[in-house]
Amino acid sequence: MKDSLKQHFPIYTSSPDLAYFDTGASALKPQVVVDKIREYYSDYGVNIHRGLYEASDRATTEHDTARNIIAQFIHAEPEEIVFTYGTTHGLNMLATSLGQDLKKGDNIVLTAWEHHANLIPWQQIAKKTGAELRFVDIDTDYQIDIKDAKKKIDSNTKIVSFGHVSNTLGSLAPANELIGLAKHVHAITIIDAAQSIVHLKTDVKKLDVDFLVFSGHKLYGPTGIGVLYGKKEKLEQLSPVSFGGDMILDVSYNSAEWHDVPYRFEPGTPNIAGAIGLGAAVAFVQSIGLDEIIAREDKLTNYLINQLSSLLNVQIIGSSDPPKHHGVVSINIAGIHTHDIAEILNRHNVAIRVGSHCAMPLMKKLGLPGGTARFSIGMYTDEKDVDTAMTALKQAIDLFTQIM
Ligand code: ALA
Repeated sequence: MKDSLKQHFPIYTSSPDLAYFDTGASALKPQVVVDKIREYYSDYGVNIHRGLYEASDRATTEHDTARNIIAQFIHAEPEEIVFTYGTTHGLNMLATSLGQDLKKGDNIVLTAWEHHANLIPWQQIAKKTGAELRFVDIDTDYQIDIKDAKKKIDSNTKIVSFGHVSNTLGSLAPANELIGLAKHVHAITIIDAAQSIVHLKTDVKKLDVDFLVFSGHKLYGPTGIGVLYGKKEKLEQLSPVSFGGDMILDVSYNSAEWHDVPYRFEPGTPNIAGAIGLGAAVAFVQSIGLDEIIAREDKLTNYLINQLSSLLNVQIIGSSDPPKHHGVVSINIAGIHTHDIAEILNRHNVAIRVGSHCAMPLMKKLGLPGGTARFSIGMYTDEKDVDTAMTALKQAIDLFTQIM
């Protein structure tokens, strides 16, 4: 393995003792991304597609380049990449647009581990149209129960939308099997790749998925930028749900003709710096190499799970098999509220996320009213971070054992 990757992330210069375990919420930003955004604002920070002058040309070129880099990263074509404001925005766009064709008797199949972003938009559509929501269950090893999926996906299923990697459990959905079942009944398929995009290789061609969404900030990029991938023919069939400038070819007082995809889905001035910054983040990930990142993360996950499992009273909420975790390890400690765990870890400069992780129905199903204490890792996380976290966790356990 090469040297630590922390050197690429300026936060470790200002906070050298930080043990950051909240990449699942947002990844840290490398210097190259910060520099690229600064360069846009300081050197050519103007609008795209509009100005016939040099700075605007440069902004348009950089924005197009970012789209090309991202397309290549997930094995898509540039016209299949729609810039959004994040995963939540992409899923809302899809639910609102696809929901227009749903009716009573139809069903939408999700899974029991969905993040609220891939749940609430569909709840709204179900209420409006009378369509039924169905949830594929998880098994005792916290994996998708494919037998249950076979029961839930039927000839009335119009949409199958699932989180690729659970943000709470770290489990990976059997995407090919779920997509195969959906295709068999001609349902539209959607992957919420918010968590998987940073930990796995994403090949939309191999997945053969209709739509896939993710956020930039979980991929070492800026906040407020995301991607909605759609197969070209699927995007062409999708109605825009937001309207305004730059998404049209021709407008008269009473009608408008949409621009080609992907532009018809990007009305108004977009997050230009965000898109350019995300392009830089993806180029950075590619320069390190996803194989290298995955190898580091696999080794680290194994170490983290072994260390956590050695602590008394710590229950892993997820598979006991480390390779079945993709960047996320959740725990529960009997007798200690998750917020108390976070508070004590914070005293040691260890950052974790606790609570329901925007997956409240899953927490209720698992009988965890306080949610879990979640450790989520990135390319920069190392064994020293884990050791720091373990020292802090031991202190929390000792403290609360004395109180009890
Ligand atoms: N969706 C983000 C998380 O899981 C915020 O933490």
